Amino acid sequence: MIRNKLLWETSKQKYGLVSKGLHWLSALAVFTLFGLGYWMVDLDYYSEWYQRAPHWHESAGLLLCIVTLFRLVWRTIATKPEIISSHSALEKKCSAIMTFALYFILLTVFASGYLITSADGKAIAVFDWFNVSAFILIAENQEDLAGAIHYYIAYTLIFMALIHALAALKHHFIDKDNTLKRMIK
Ligand code: HEM
Repeated sequence: MIRNKLLWETSKQKYGLVSKGLHWLSALAVFTLFGLGYWMVDLDYYSEWYQRAPHWHESAGLLLCIVTLFRLVWRTIATKPEIISSHSALEKKCSAIMTFALYFILLTVFASGYLITSADGKAIAVFDWFNVSAFILIAENQEDLAGAIHYYIAYTLIFMALIHALAALKHHFIDKDNTLKRMIK
């Protein structure tokens, strides 16, 4: 099999193009979706965005869910860069826990968002490109329950992502190690 070094991520020193692209696309999408969600919940019924904004939020969220599932598959088949040796044992542990937490929280946000939208039993139109069936009906008050989970988990995700970003900046500007560079260059 022909392996493209850049795409396939054979380097032990840095992330490959696909991993980096998926990371920054996801980060941008998460912050944008959070901003859109924060703004749209207060929209007036007569606003032209009252229906369009939730439609975009749900559609982009579902696409990001697909991207994240692909990313999880990708990280199991692409070689991962080695842990940076100058990181302390505590930093290595925190980094592993944060990676797990970020993926877990992302999936929880998607699942709860899906349960809100599918609560009325109607298929979800993703930008009117394709439909995702609503086949999960778990509770009478599914919309309220999933809505509460979605709300708190979304805030938790943003909080964790900010801590994660601060840790990356600390490695870059204070420790002056390769942690952030290998996710950019
Ligand atoms: C919502 C925003 C973000 C999410 C959900 C997120 C998620 C993740 C995840 C899941 C990983 C682990 C990748 C893997 O090994 O599979 C990761 C790695 C990384 N992220 Fe983020 N990230 C976000 C924003 C940021 C920002 C803003 C920065 C920088 C300022 C950043 C810097 C990094 C770095 C440097 C790594 C590699 C860490 C290492 O090699 O140990 N991330 N991110």
